[in-house]
Amino acid sequence: MTASPRRFHITTFGCQMNKADSERMAGILQDMGFIWSDDPEAADLILYNTCTIRDNAEQKVYSYLGRQAKRKHEQPDLTLIVAGCVAQQEGEALLRRVPELDLVMGPQHANRLQDLLEQVFQGSQVVATEPVHIMEDITQPRRDSTVTAWVNVIYGCNERCTYCVVPNVRGVEQSRTPEAIRAEIEVLGQQGYKEITLLGQNIDAYGRDLPGATPDGRHLHTLTDLLYFIHDVPGIERIRFATSHPRYFTERLIRACAELPKVCEHFHIPFQSGDNDVLKAMSRGYTHEKYRRIIDTIRRYMPDASISADAIVGFPGETEAQFENTLKLVSDIGFDQLNTAAYSPRPGTPAANWDNQLSEEVKSDRLQRLNHLVAAKAAERSQRYLGRVEEVLVEDQNPKDPTQVMGRTRGNRLTYFEGNLEELRGRVVPVKITEVRAFSLTGRALVAAEC
Ligand code: SAH
Ligand code: SF4
Ligand code: F3S
Repeated sequence: MTASPRRFHITTFGCQMNKADSERMAGILQDMGFIWSDDPEAADLILYNTCTIRDNAEQKVYSYLGRQAKRKHEQPDLTLIVAGCVAQQEGEALLRRVPELDLVMGPQHANRLQDLLEQVFQGSQVVATEPVHIMEDITQPRRDSTVTAWVNVIYGCNERCTYCVVPNVRGVEQSRTPEAIRAEIEVLGQQGYKEITLLGQNIDAYGRDLPGATPDGRHLHTLTDLLYFIHDVPGIERIRFATSHPRYFTERLIRACAELPKVCEHFHIPFQSGDNDVLKAMSRGYTHEKYRRIIDTIRRYMPDASISADAIVGFPGETEAQFENTLKLVSDIGFDQLNTAAYSPRPGTPAANWDNQLSEEVKSDRLQRLNHLVAAKAAERSQRYLGRVEEVLVEDQNPKDPTQVMGRTRGNRLTYFEGNLEELRGRVVPVKITEVRAFSLTGRALVAAEC
């Protein structure tokens, strides 16, 4: 009797970095002979790729884990893995909390999954959280989409924002070489991918750690240089990048984005707070005036650019007046989208130990008020699309209406229109926008004669 192949399931929490890591780990598992199972209950290997950015993200993992740990008592050959940022943060402590676990591995170890699993299959319980130099991985990721792909360009973060766990769990910045990045994108182009998103926690800090500075200290490898270096890869029609830090967002980068036709006019630049004293307490290294200047410069070069960001409300000591400065910034700038969060104290970060924490009531009240404003502003921003023709790269079916396909405009607005997915997937279609909502659009595909 031949054994049937072992099945695996990965559940991913958190940011795009984790999604990209999960795709690479899935690629490694497939190379090892595992096959994907949509149903976690039918899988023989379960991997949780976890996030610890806020307490609620972390707690979610524990509730999932409890259930699988029970299952392991009935099915002892079930392999249970916790990867990602909770794994890094908790390390050995996770094994004490959930002794059923086989492997606890931090994000820097994603490319080492095969080695680590071999140790597990020899009977060890393994914890891999020591800092490592991230090796280039030759495995093909198992990507979720056949149209758009993530490409890591820089791992880790060298900032020390006082609220944030990321530097603790993702380690110091490690940039991939431009050659390795271009080689990955070339393969994607050959495979039929149309859009790539370059990824990093502070993507505009790309290259600082690479050798090759000029004698006057300028770097030869910046994100701007990288955009020029990869721009002509055949087959790739759109290039995006995220997340940008206001400290490193230069006019040279903005000019490159305006000049390079494949780079989409969408910029995700978190500001966190609209108040200078709060920004200082957060150790963000810029003022709201500087942030506004960046957005003004972007709009000078690309008047229609979409701007999105992240913001935190209820940071320790934030007064009502300081919070109102955040409202004012949001109102003045008019974001196309804003990810908002109530401050969550994280273990191992300075702000968590301060004694000026705000109550949950104040935080959730501010969050609601901010969200209300964000939706109103986004709806206003959407109005500009009405009646316009937008280029939509078709990615998938509208899950709520199978007669429609969905894709994104260059400005990253989700757009729906009637059409056949088989025919349109991966194509850039001119779509006349007939209906707008705060965060999405509906339109009608134009036939060639109408464009
Ligand atoms: N590197 C990016 C953000 C990475 S974390 C940057 O510097 O902007 C993603 C977002 O999570 C942050 O932008 C922030 O808005 C939010 N965040 C991080 N730590 C948080 C905390 N302790 N409480 C609430 N939100 C937090
Ligand atoms: Fe966190 Fe700040 Fe680094 Fe962003 S820049 S990941 S918020 S420490
Ligand atoms: Fe979460 Fe780690 Fe990303 S903490 S937001 S998954 S870097």
